[in-house]
Amino acid sequence: MTRIFSGIQPSGRPTIGNYIGAMKQWVELQKDNSDSQLIFSIVNLHAITARQNPEELKERTLDMVAWLLAMGIDPTRSNTKIMVQSTVPAHSELAWILDNYTTIGELNRMTQFKDKSAGQKPEGLLVGIYNYPVLMAADILLYSTDIVPVGDDQMQHIELTRDIASRFNNLYGEVFVVPRGQIVQEGSRIMNLQDPTKKMSKSSDNQMSFVLLEDSAELIHKKLSKAVTDQYGEVRYDPDRQPAISNLIDIYRGFEGDLSIEAIEKRYVDIGYGQFKQDLAVLVIDKLSDLQNRYQSFRAGHEMLIRVVDEGKEYCQKIAEQKIEQVKQVVGLV
Ligand code: AQP
Repeated sequence: MTRIFSGIQPSGRPTIGNYIGAMKQWVELQKDNSDSQLIFSIVNLHAITARQNPEELKERTLDMVAWLLAMGIDPTRSNTKIMVQSTVPAHSELAWILDNYTTIGELNRMTQFKDKSAGQKPEGLLVGIYNYPVLMAADILLYSTDIVPVGDDQMQHIELTRDIASRFNNLYGEVFVVPRGQIVQEGSRIMNLQDPTKKMSKSSDNQMSFVLLEDSAELIHKKLSKAVTDQYGEVRYDPDRQPAISNLIDIYRGFEGDLSIEAIEKRYVDIGYGQFKQDLAVLVIDKLSDLQNRYQSFRAGHEMLIRVVDEGKEYCQKIAEQKIEQVKQVVGLV
């Protein structure tokens, strides 16, 4: 049976980048893989690599569970679970072991670390943010994962996970399944609305740089209307020459997948950026409105959310404990 694993950090409120690049795909995978096992994790241990307010972190963890339910992730299916990472201690345990099979040279090459630490003195950086990819490798390998659906920004971490798994297997036999990453074909990296050279991120300080799934219609309209555009004035998909409008086209397609890039370009020939942005806002507001209503109703059910978390914990602990025991055996840990 194929096992699919992916995660999202409760490091902020989910953006349309998280939705288009990852969460939407998770729901599709659930539909298309009725006989696969699917585990979706709220990776709160990853979230503490940036300082979090403890109460907010707890709330956002449950917010994420509610968003996944609202999207249609269904943990009442016997083979789909939503799990909170900190409820399964084997994640941290395996990460420590895998630290000893990962080189500093490999971690130095991780572009996400470089991006997140840009402009800061190395002496002041937290070890956790540096080590993040090893914890991610542990998350994936613990569950003998075959497929990891992620946004394109995470592909380098999946490659590292494959290297660590192969290295470990070469030493000790076939302990880990070597996973493969799967990204959405188009729009796998939604960019910052104010600076299309940067990725859209939920923890950005600039509120105008992202659209949150929970944003009001007015706010969505404002943020998309004020999104930067390019100097050419043409609605044309050309990420190198026209990265800003190409990003907005990716967002359009993220919400209206049936429309090809050519069809969008054709529709807006001789019509300026202004009208395109208006139409994009109407589309996003419309598509998010049902999702927001479902989210509100799931979020109001505190006990049900806790039950989902508890069931995920119980299910995942069984799998994770077996794997960690196997790893300890082969390494020689009593
Ligand atoms: N801008 C994006 N475009 C497409 N996919 C994205 N993802 C994140 N941002 C984009 C994908 O969403 C999933 C969950 O991401 P995460 O929360 O685990 O970590 P992240 O990639 O670091 O996301 P953020 O929003 O940028 O969070 P912060 O600001 O806390 O660092 C992943 O599959 C990711 O690829």
